[in-house]
Amino acid sequence: MRVVILGSAAGGGLPQWNCRCPICETARREPGRVRPRTQSSIAVSANGADWLLVNASPDIRQQLFDTPALHPREGLRHSPIKAVLLTNGDVDHVAGLLTLREGQPFTLYGTSGILDSVNANRVFDVMAADVVAREPIALERRFEPLPGLAVTLFPVPGKVPLWLEDETMQIGAETETTVGAMIEAGGRRLAYVPGCAQVTDKLKGQLAGADALLFDGTVYYDDDMIRAGVGVKTGWRMGHVPMRGENGSVDALRDVAVGRRVFVHINNTNPVLIEDSPERAEIEAAGWTVGHDGLALSL
Ligand code: MLT
Ligand code: MN
Ligand code: ZN
Repeated sequence: MRVVILGSAAGGGLPQWNCRCPICETARREPGRVRPRTQSSIAVSANGADWLLVNASPDIRQQLFDTPALHPREGLRHSPIKAVLLTNGDVDHVAGLLTLREGQPFTLYGTSGILDSVNANRVFDVMAADVVAREPIALERRFEPLPGLAVTLFPVPGKVPLWLEDETMQIGAETETTVGAMIEAGGRRLAYVPGCAQVTDKLKGQLAGADALLFDGTVYYDDDMIRAGVGVKTGWRMGHVPMRGENGSVDALRDVAVGRRVFVHINNTNPVLIEDSPERAEIEAAGWTVGHDGLALSL
């Protein structure tokens, strides 16, 4: 199985268009010290020719341009992307669907909970129904979006997307709106969990045995955004477990048997983004890689 991290940043990307926090400013001035990153997405292939895109970010046009394996290569109109899977309905995971218009057939997969919010929004009808099929997938049911590539979706603690929040919103609930994906090919397994509010025993059981884990690295401490002075929201309020501190993912996942551990969906306020920061050194000493755009894994 081939895996490419197309975008390793959380919503907003790095640098974020309107942000002058020290990390965004360093990404503009010293890209060797803070690598710029695009928004959250990966591509996966069993045969190297046909690809599953998991989450369609607002930066997808640039991501496809930067990834030769995803360039068109047959006839006049073509794409190696044969299927797209959504793990939640966040803007950073669905806005790129608008870029995938232009009459290119593929199948869009997601839980009913996620697809309902896409279906309810008429702007997504630019993906014409007779060209792009939308297939709801039940949780915990193995399906094959591409021959030789199997996926099982499982619920993870999360919340509804920011743009669907209302007074009934629950944080940390396990519903169809935030899922992880276990992706299998050739006997190898990739666990992809870009959004997760809490590491539970159930989640640990689901991840155990994966050859690689790509996991929610939005915040370092729960109060990153408050410390950085750019907002009042905690990681928990946004539905994201911190790397460190109480109930941090690094400690919570320490004893779970997974192969490679990589953080993705990293917010621009997270100090691990600074190549020479103590936080980066600590995360790497704990066996984690801080994901970056273009990072490829062969499993
Ligand atoms: C998140 O992951 O918390 C969301 O992408 C936030 C957003 O929609 O900007
Ligand atoms: Mn997000
Ligand atoms: Zn910033």
